[in-house]
Amino acid sequence: MSQIHVTTTVNGDAVELLCEPEETLLDVLRDRLCLTGSKEGCGTGDCGACSVLLDDRLVCSCLVLGAEAEGREIRTIEGLAEGEHLHPLQRKFLEHAALQCGVCTPGFLMAAKALLDRNPDPSETEVRYWLAGNLCRCTGYDKIVRAVLDAARELRTTSHAA
Ligand code: FES
Ligand code: FES
Repeated sequence: MSQIHVTTTVNGDAVELLCEPEETLLDVLRDRLCLTGSKEGCGTGDCGACSVLLDDRLVCSCLVLGAEAEGREIRTIEGLAEGEHLHPLQRKFLEHAALQCGVCTPGFLMAAKALLDRNPDPSETEVRYWLAGNLCRCTGYDKIVRAVLDAARELRTTSHAA
């Protein structure tokens, strides 16, 4: 079957690519654009490791077709930091030792960003519910939740100061 021409925006950059009709957005990001931060944990929408923002909406990129990126804006973990400056979420994950493995952490960060974009002052319960779609079976979630709440605090302070 012939390939599909896709024009999209990834982390602020205009991108053109060809992909197979059945190729997922996750495969396009990883295999065609070499953005390997988004991970494939399950490939079935259950683990959240492949989470990205599509037009500012949190999606599992393993459940989206690459062709659906046409005309849309995608943000991946590679676009979270601003140049050399880590996003507050990334810094707080480091400070709170909330780093998990490289498979689940990018998804947690993108999900947390989507939450704080919508709700700058979430309760602990809201953070836990929001991150329920991101699975890690290796440890607890407490440090992650603390890091997200702390990042939210910092972002609120910064935006008030601005
Ligand atoms: S790889 Fe997409 S949800 Fe698990
Ligand atoms: S799946 Fe990443 S630390 Fe458990």
